[in-house]
Amino acid sequence: KTGLFTYDTGYLSTASCKSKITFIDGDKGELLYRGYPIEQLADHCNFLEVAYLLKNGELPNQQQKGKFEMTIKQHTMVHEQLVKFFQGFRRDAHPMAVMVGVVGALSAFYHDAMNFYDAEHRNISFNRIVAKMPTIVAMAYKYSMGEPFMYPRNDLDYTANFMHMMFGTPCEQYKPNPVLVRALDIIFTLHADHEQNASTSTVRLAGSSGANPFACISAGIACLWGPAHGGANEACLNMLEQIGDVSRVDEFIKRAKDKNDSFKLMGFGHRVYKNFDPRAKLMRKVCGDVLTELGLENDRLFKLALTLEKIALEDEYFIEKKLYPNVDFYSGIVQKALGIPTSMFTCIFALARTVGWMAQWEEMLIDPEYKIGRPRQLYIGAARRNVAPIDQR
Ligand code: SDX
Repeated sequence: KTGLFTYDTGYLSTASCKSKITFIDGDKGELLYRGYPIEQLADHCNFLEVAYLLKNGELPNQQQKGKFEMTIKQHTMVHEQLVKFFQGFRRDAHPMAVMVGVVGALSAFYHDAMNFYDAEHRNISFNRIVAKMPTIVAMAYKYSMGEPFMYPRNDLDYTANFMHMMFGTPCEQYKPNPVLVRALDIIFTLHADHEQNASTSTVRLAGSSGANPFACISAGIACLWGPAHGGANEACLNMLEQIGDVSRVDEFIKRAKDKNDSFKLMGFGHRVYKNFDPRAKLMRKVCGDVLTELGLENDRLFKLALTLEKIALEDEYFIEKKLYPNVDFYSGIVQKALGIPTSMFTCIFALARTVGWMAQWEEMLIDPEYKIGRPRQLYIGAARRNVAPIDQR
């Protein structure tokens, strides 16, 4: 059995799986990780506590948290030969292309002699990839900049270490700003999981064949890259730059409503949320905090985004279609303020979503009812017919 089939308005709609990990109520704008509201997790926990929660189903106590953080620190370095994979790419390669290649290549380094039906081997894989993603993302950035790779530092926590590997250089000790580190840590939490979105379903489907988790995560990264999915934060910032000034907002709102115009308001709308995406509200607050910390309260793009959001939310088209800002609407602005280039936004998304992908992969793998995925189709092609000789075609 691959899930529950329900018939609705003549179409076959399917629930692809049962899961205990994340719950979304699109009408109420509610998001729960293992039953905890995203707002409370963002307020009271750090990203590694959330990673532990998504995988194990419970938040760690102090002793479990300390042990998990120490375990992650022991896996942050990558095999030295993996460095050579980066050198095969042009410097101007999109970092997501690099991520797909390098993360997939981890399969060649870490999956041999692993029995993923053994819980301990799954734990090792989870720890390895959660620990190595920040290192690999930072390496993709450094490679694109022509700067030397930075080794992880075990005296820093997970997110501060990532910022050190991104922005540090061998010339001076990187001093992380705790306000900015906390902001990025919350951004990771907001992106950690989101039930059966396109990339998570990709990871589950790939994993259902027994493929190793690194290859499955690479497939998830490839899917996330699309502008309708994880690539929307990059597309949203490019859109704000294209709009340029509040005086042009009405012109673009008009285009977004025009069925003959392919333009869509990036960072707006969602397949599930027909109310506010709770992550967008939290992201807007993080964005404001970061801009204030950096003395950029009057940031042009932030002001433009606030105006665009206000106008769109009062527009009858957006109200009727129930289109609200989603997680991607403010994330580009805050990441740009943190010094992260536009091309890296979706890599940051992938870094954070890796914990959700791995938790969902494991849940699929150990579910006794889950067999190899086999999505159904409604065949609407040609009826049976015979091949004519070529001189009669
Ligand atoms: C993510 O699934 C997940 O959980 C994904 C994600 C996650 O955490 O994994 O939440 C991350 O992918 C967020 C979404 C990021 N994408 C964008 O911001 C790109 C812009 N958004 C649109 O492409 C769109 O809203 C989608 C793809 C997100 C959803 O598309 P749907 O499923 O078609 O949305 P819908 O059915 O609710 O649309 C209703 C109507 C449609 O028009 P009609 O066919 O009814 O005439 O609204 C229109 C849509 O064309 N519409 C938009 C619009 N989004 C939907 N019109 C203008 N601008 C938009 N942004």
